[in-house]
Parts: sequence; C-alpha cells; structure tokens
Amino acid sequence: RQRVFSGIQPTADSFHLGNYFGALKHWVSLQDTHDCVFSVVDLHAITVEAQQNPKQLRRRSLLSYAQLIAMGIDPQKSVLVMQSHVPEHTQLAWVLQCITGYGEASRMTQFKDKSGKEGSDHTSVGLFTYPMLMAADILIYRTHAVPVGEDQRQHLELSRNLAQRFNSRFKKTFVMPEPLINPATAKFVDLQNPTGKMSKSATTEGGMINVLDDPKVITKRIKSAVTDNEGVVRFDRDNQPGVANLLSILGAATGREARELAGEYDGKGYGVLKADVADAVVAEFEPVAQRTAELMDDQAELERIMADGAQRAREIAGPILRQAYDAVGFAPLV
Ligand code: TYM
Repeated sequence: RQRVFSGIQPTADSFHLGNYFGALKHWVSLQDTHDCVFSVVDLHAITVEAQQNPKQLRRRSLLSYAQLIAMGIDPQKSVLVMQSHVPEHTQLAWVLQCITGYGEASRMTQFKDKSGKEGSDHTSVGLFTYPMLMAADILIYRTHAVPVGEDQRQHLELSRNLAQRFNSRFKKTFVMPEPLINPATAKFVDLQNPTGKMSKSATTEGGMINVLDDPKVITKRIKSAVTDNEGVVRFDRDNQPGVANLLSILGAATGREARELAGEYDGKGYGVLKADVADAVVAEFEPVAQRTAELMDDQAELERIMADGAQRAREIAGPILRQAYDAVGFAPLV
C-alpha cells in the first residue's frame, strides 16, 4: 500500500471549516486504502511568537490530537503522531536545510506573507526554515501522497525538489511525494470576505467557522455570510464567490457536486440555501465536538494513544533516517 502523510498545526483551540473540508475529511477517507501517518505539527506552531505560550501550546496540541480522533482518524488504522515526539523529523530537516538555497527558501510565498506582517525583528529563523521541516515530515516516511489544501502547493513543490536533489547528490533514498489537492475543496473562503482564504490569521470577525463552535454560532455565521445582489443560486466562483463558497461547503458536507446542487436551488432564495448549509455543517461538526470533549476528559488515555503513535512513527522513521545519514557520509555509529 502507498504511504500518505499530512500534518496540521495546533495554532488554535479548534480546527476551522477550511481545515476540516479542505484536508481532514480527506485524511479520514484515505485510511482504508493507504498506509497513513498523520501528525499534529507542534514544532511548526512555535515558528511565530504568538504561539509561544507553553500552557496554550499544550492545550491546543492535545485538543488537536483529540479532534483528529473525534473526526474519525483511527489511531489503530493510521499512525497518529505528535511531531515533537519524533526527533527524526528535525534530524532530517537539518540535512534538507543544508541542500536548500537561501534564495530558494526566500521565494516561499507563505514566508514572505507572514514575515512581511511581522517585520524582520519579529520574524524568527524558524519561520524561514519551516518549509524544510515540512519536507522532512514528508520524506522521512517515504511518502507517496500528501493530502492538503491549495495553500500548501508551493511547499509540496519544494519537498519534491529536495527529494530529487538529495537522491541525485547522495544516493536514491527518498520517494517523490505527490500533492493530493482536490479542486472542489482546495480553498474555502472567508464568509465575510469571499475573495480571501478562510484562515486563522487573515479572517474577519464572523468570517470563520470552527469545528468546536456552538451550533448557534455556526448557524448565525452562515446566515450572515456575504453573498451578492444577483439573487440567483449559481456556481460561479468568479462572479458569485460567496454563493459558490456556500455551495462548496454544502457539497463537501453531503458528498455531492456543488454545480449539481446549485440546480436544486433554482427559484429559491439565498436564505433557503444558507439554512441547508447551516444544518449540514452543524450535523457534521456537533458529534465531533462532543467526542472531542469526551476524549479530553480522559487525559491518561490520550497520552497512552500518543505514546503508541510515537513508537510506531519512530519504527518507520528511524531506519530511513539512518539510511539518509549514511548516504550523506556521516560516520557510522556502531
Ligand atoms: P495548516 O495547519 O495551516 O492547515 C492544515 C490543512 O488545512 C488546509 N487548509 C485549507 N484548505 C482549504 N481551504 C482553506 N481555507 C484552508 N485553510 C487550511 C491546509 O492546506 C492544510 O492541508 N504547513 C502545513 C502543516 C504541515 C504539513 C506538513 C502538511 C506541516 N508539515 C507535511 C502536509 C505535510 C500547515 O500549515 O497547514
């Protein structure tokens, strides 16, 4: 079976709708056909100062891990791992940093966006080397496919370049990872500003929906979503981005095509569509929130599952790291 790897940052108490339908729901379905490793990437989270609050980091890491189980990642079927529990990720990252060009890393748009906002004194070196750690996350498991949203495409391209470069400079060690980006769910937009991506940092008040939000809040936010003055439900991302986003959400929640759904709202107003979207999202998120709360009540059990995940991850990553270090020419440790 082919290996799948993907990760998510524990940078909020709850995952948001973009994470859920853009990536996590795909993770859940890949478990039956692939050898999956999924990770809460806590090392990536601390690349920005706002996330360097120890209590907050621990709470968010555990909440993230619990949410993944609650939404259907089965820690028996898949390896579910806390990134900081597997030192091989950072051990490989160092080597990858040494074969990445400074200019190449400087061209990462996510780095440019984030560092631009912070100013150079507040931009950490970790934010700069973030993509090489991400490449290590992927390559250390000899991953074939990486399910992500559109915003990770450039990072995936770098991972492929680094795999190729390592293999040709040293010895064929890594598998070339392919991005798995589903165009129907690749980019959910902000409910209040439907030209911008739904994200933790860029989002306007009311523009985002969290998996753990109260159903009343979810319903209210969907009902107040910005649409347009056309008054006709059509799937047209360019001219009706707000309505297209609502149709995409409904499609993702019901497993149907957004375009086909649009036809069913012929002659009905946006209000009817919004009510259906709200019901579908609440039906999807409410049980996840409930199970997350239950899992958080048994911390000891959660820690046991995490320890098991770490052990299984290291069984895969350990031998591959040794092969990579050997290929580089580091002295053998016998
Ligand atoms: P992160 O934590 O920002 O997001 C997790 C996943 O959610 C997707 N996503 C979206 N998809 C559709 N619409 C949106 N509005 C939206 N917002 C977020 C992201 O594309 C992602 O798939 N760098 C990664 C974490 C990472 C990783 C990895 C991923 C670290 N190592 C190795 C894959 C493989 C990140 O910051 O994702």
